[in-house]
Order: sequence, then C-alpha cells, then structure tokens
Amino acid sequence: ENNQMPQEEGLDNTLKVLKEGYQFIMNRRHTMQSNVFETKILGEKTICMSGSKAAEVFYDSQKFRRADAAPSRLKKTLFGEGGVQGLDGEAHFHRKAMFMNVMNSSTLAEIRTLTNKYWEKEAAKWEEKEKVVLAEDSKSILAQIACEWAGVPLEEEDVDKTAQQLGDTFEASAAVGPAHWKGRRSRSKLEDWITELVSEIREGTRNVPEDRPLYQFTWHKDHEGKLLDEKIVAVEILNLLRPMTAISVYIAFTAQALEQYPEEAERLKDGEDGKLQRFIQEVRRFYPFFPFTAARVNQTFTWEGYEFEEGTLTLLDLYGTNHHQEDWTNPALFQPDRFKEWDESPFNFIPQGGGEFSIGHRCAGEWITIDILKESVNFLVNKLHYELPEQDLSFSMDDIPSIPKSKMILTNVKRTS
Ligand code: HEM
Repeated sequence: ENNQMPQEEGLDNTLKVLKEGYQFIMNRRHTMQSNVFETKILGEKTICMSGSKAAEVFYDSQKFRRADAAPSRLKKTLFGEGGVQGLDGEAHFHRKAMFMNVMNSSTLAEIRTLTNKYWEKEAAKWEEKEKVVLAEDSKSILAQIACEWAGVPLEEEDVDKTAQQLGDTFEASAAVGPAHWKGRRSRSKLEDWITELVSEIREGTRNVPEDRPLYQFTWHKDHEGKLLDEKIVAVEILNLLRPMTAISVYIAFTAQALEQYPEEAERLKDGEDGKLQRFIQEVRRFYPFFPFTAARVNQTFTWEGYEFEEGTLTLLDLYGTNHHQEDWTNPALFQPDRFKEWDESPFNFIPQGGGEFSIGHRCAGEWITIDILKESVNFLVNKLHYELPEQDLSFSMDDIPSIPKSKMILTNVKRTS
C-alpha cells in the first residue's frame, strides 16, 4: 500500500522555480516537512528530492535514467546535444571512460602548473589596469588552462573572445530572452570551431599530441566500435572547456569568502595544502552554483512508502543537500574545518553531483576543479596584493547561476612574489 506523496498545489510552478531559485526545493521541504514531494514544472509532473538518502536513490542507475531528462533549452546552451550527460547504460559507461581516462595524476599535476602559469600571465596585465573584475577577467585564465591542457590551439588574440563565448554558454543556462539567445549563438560558434579542428585532425592536415583530450576524443571509438560524429566530439571537448571556464564563478566566491571570513583567510598564509583544500571544499559546499540535477524514473519503484512512476521527471536538490540539517551541523555557517570530520560520503557533499564517477553522472571534472581552486586561492592569498573598493559583495539566491553582485572588483593589483 503506497502513501500519497506530499504535493504542491498549483497548475504550474515554473515561475516559482525562477523566483525562488536555489531555495525552491528547500522552501517546500521545510513547509511540507518532507525530503520528497511532487510539483509541476514546465507543464510536467515533477518529483523533487533532497538530502543524502535521496541522493543515494537518485544515483541508483536501475531506478533513474538520463535520456530525455534535460530540458531542450539547456541543451541548446549549456550542455550541447548528444553529449555524455544524456546517455545511459553501456553507452554512458563507455563515453564516461573517455573522460575519466584523461583525468589522471599527471593531468592534475599539469593542471596545477598551468594554473600558476596563467594566473602569473594575467596578473601581470592586471597590474596595468585601473580595476579588475575577477568573475569576468578570471575566465581568460581558465580558458587558457583548459585549451592548453585539452590540446586545443588558442591564439593570443582570441583568448578574451573565446573566454567570453564559453562564459555565455553557462551564463545563459537559466536565462530567458537575449541572454539565452546569446548563449545559443556562442555555443554554435564554439561547436563550429572545434568541429573544424576535429575534421582537420581526421583528414591529417593538423597534428595534435596524442596524449591530449582533443586527440583522444577525436579517435575515441564508442561501445559499438565506431568513431564519434565530429559534432559530438566538439560537444564533448566543450564539456571540458566550458565547465573549466565556469570555475570563474567559484573563484569569485572564493575571493568573496576571503573577504567575509578574514580569520579563515589569515590561516591560509602558510600555504599548507590541507588548509587550502578545506577552504575551497567549504566554498563548494557553502555557495550556490548548480542548483539541482534532473533524471527520469527508469522503472516504477517504491521508496519510503511513495511510488515513483516510470518516466516521471525527478530533480535532486544539490544546493539543498549541501545545506541539509540532517547531513550537516550548522549548515548556514562557513566553517572550512568541518571537512576535518567529513565522512567522505559520495551522497552528502554533492556540489558537482554524487555517486560514482564511472557508472554514474557525477562530474568528470571534480578533481580538476579542486586543484584549480587550491592553486587559485593560494595565488589570491599568497602571491597577489589587491584591494576591494566599495562594492556590493552580496549574492542572490534567486538568480541561477548566482555570483557576487559586484562580480568582485579588485584595484591596485600587484604580484607579491
Ligand atoms: C557533470 C557541476 C566543473 C565536466 C556535472 C554535474 C554537475 C557538475 C552538477 C551533473 C551531475 C549529475 O547530473 O549527476 C560542476 C561544477 C563545476 C564543474 C559546479 C565547477 C565549475 C567541471 C569541469 C569539467 C566538468 C572542470 C571538465 C574538466 C563534467 C562532465 C559532466 C559533468 C563531462 C557529465 C558527467 C556525466 O554525465 O557522466 N558537473 N562541474 N565539470 N561535469 Fe561538471
């Protein structure tokens, strides 16, 4: 005998999602006193879930699938079409391995070196500028790290333009109107650019080192032994370049945290790796970035007395799980040292998704993100002098993606070592 799942009233609550943003699921979880409830979004019955126990169910690939889960407008901007995010089963396992094979320890060592190299390069330019807008200007650092590592040639004169285009694709994610269309245009320009490179490599008119993701993806064979369509290779290369550039959002939040929590910032002055790690882990837990992720019920099942019907769209609350009082003590406080006691559960700390990397959809770039952020916070604290003029450091819980309102303006930037 199944129970009736708590239900939100209303014919369609899409506008409330847009209005309440990161707190949409959390607000209803509180009023309904339930980690799972049903609502209607984009005209469709939708289940929302929150907390580590819900995450564990959500990442059971027998219970949930990804095919047809992402709304089409997100594919046109953020993800691209035909990429790893929408695959299931064997096809997903094989494609995901293509990503995880390039995420090894030598990659991470190189990423740290490249992070320092491009912070140095751009910071030298910032010394000449009256002001730096960190959330914007750091995109150029990140796009260069991403392209050099991925084996994608990027001319000096194209750096800023490419960084902006990559930025447009993630800034458009929840946008409607002009920002959405800008995101679409930038995505198609970027896809054309990479598709051209792939066809040159296949025709033998362009050489790329074999250990680079561009080469690896270009010659990757799928689970049926076939090369990927050139356009799909482009989508997957952009699945590296776009989110690496999006780390600019976390860099802006990191600078915001250094300002808001000066005692914690002070402790990073010895550059000790463990402290840098705990600080940026807390940045990833505390600040809003990716609000929730979506899947569909794969086969009807019952959980906690509620029926999940085959095909039902289901959202897992990522932000809310990182702030769930059943999983975290004082979740509203910024406390890096909480990571000294963290149990390393794959389900309670899920800013980049949860579960396993290889058989699930957990973010392929989580280790890269952590390493780039560790080097970046160390650079901000120990290698850079800057001042923060009067500005609005607050951030909105309604706008997706969120960012400090001023985008973090720095003045009097000087390298200190
Ligand atoms: C998937 C967040 C950085 C590559 C995801 C997912 C989230 C996420 C929430 C989906 C999880 C799910 O649906 O279960 C983030 C955030 C990042 C970031 C907040 C910080 C900027 C990166 C980086 C890369 C990357 C740096 C690549 C170098 C991917 C890929 C997937 C993914 C390929 C799809 C995995 C799959 O479907 O199996 N990410 N990510 N991400 N991310 Fe990230």
